[in-house]
Amino acid sequence: MLNIGIVGATGYTGVVLMSLLLTHPDAKIKLITSNTYRGRKISDIFPLFRGRLEDVLQPTDEDHRGSCDVYFLCLPHGTAMDKAQELFDGKALIVDLSADFRFEDLAIYEGAYVPHTAKELAAQAVFGLPELYREMIKGAKLIGNPGCYPTSAILPLYPLVKHGMLEGDIFIDSKSGVSGAGREGKVGSLFCEVSEGFRAYNVGVHRHEPEIQKEVNKYSPQRISFVPHLVPMSRGILTTVYGRLAKAANTAEVLDVFRETFKGEPFVRIMDENVYPDTRFVRFSNYCDIGLKVLDDGRIIVISTIDNLVKGASGQALQNMNVALGLPETAGLSGVPQYP
Ligand SMILES: NC(=O)c1ccc[n+]([C@@H]2O[C@H](COP(=O)([O-])OP(=O)(O)OC[C@H]3O[C@@H](n4cnc5c(N)ncnc54)[C@H](OP(=O)(O)O)[C@@H]3O)[C@@H](O)[C@H]2O)c1
Repeated sequence: MLNIGIVGATGYTGVVLMSLLLTHPDAKIKLITSNTYRGRKISDIFPLFRGRLEDVLQPTDEDHRGSCDVYFLCLPHGTAMDKAQELFDGKALIVDLSADFRFEDLAIYEGAYVPHTAKELAAQAVFGLPELYREMIKGAKLIGNPGCYPTSAILPLYPLVKHGMLEGDIFIDSKSGVSGAGREGKVGSLFCEVSEGFRAYNVGVHRHEPEIQKEVNKYSPQRISFVPHLVPMSRGILTTVYGRLAKAANTAEVLDVFRETFKGEPFVRIMDENVYPDTRFVRFSNYCDIGLKVLDDGRIIVISTIDNLVKGASGQALQNMNVALGLPETAGLSGVPQYP
């Protein structure tokens, strides 16, 4: 049995991770931390865990090095890299859900976030998108779990840029549920600020744009334009990618490329022609659903959906743990989406 630590267990990603881990056959939750709720039982804060997980929250600020085989860092960026420095011993696996270890080029990270305080450690990190980097994740000791919007955009872009199928600029339009902003109280997340409305935010300056751009640039110099939107639902992301095909192909042919690229992937589902993803059909699951259409003049539109808290965060983190440690990749993640 693996002893698991969840550092920052009281946020949305921490709670979802605990729920998933309770169904994992090889994992035992050994450590859960919070500064705000230290000393309190997790089931008192989140009654969903009554009778399933009654552990007491330990202070995040204490040194927990050596106590677990795997640590998931569910902390804000900046805080996570300091904690990773403290916990890293080359033996335990660290999966960081923040942005701190997602960038190979730290100048890009620092341009979008804050000065990096764990540069040597960052050199050992692997970008944890298993569909692209499975071989590198195997045996890794530090994994930078991708962002939610980047996961929803990179997966539908990957077959196209990998095969040089696009020319010109790429436009990405994403809509997210409010849990993407975390559980911490913010005015912009209040019910009256988000219900019955729909808005774009951080237009052209969102921190996830460089994360998507650096992955595209591994295959092509094309520029992306990324606009995120907040929609009044608690979870889910729908992303639409607009581009132009470099060479003529029809929808069925491009769908075949997607099916071939993601052949055998347990969590990527390619839709049939004229069928498009819906956030309702990936809720609470680790799936990324992808559908697409090619227009007569060569424009292509690709649509993806994920649950931002599962494939966009905690589910992907667990998938990364499974891959890194040689466990069945779907362990703890085989639940079907919940509907209605
Ligand atoms: N929400 C998403 O959809 C999503 C998706 C992908 C990635 N992420 C990333 O995952 C990380 C966690 O996100 P979240 O949505 O779970 O956030 P959240 O709901 O705001 O929870 C944050 C957690 O971090 C702790 N924390 C906050 N500030 C801290 C500090 N200065 N020192 C120590 N602990 C601190 C809080 O613990 P206390 O109980 O002590 O207050 C809480 O447990 C973030 O980096 C986020 O960007 C989130």
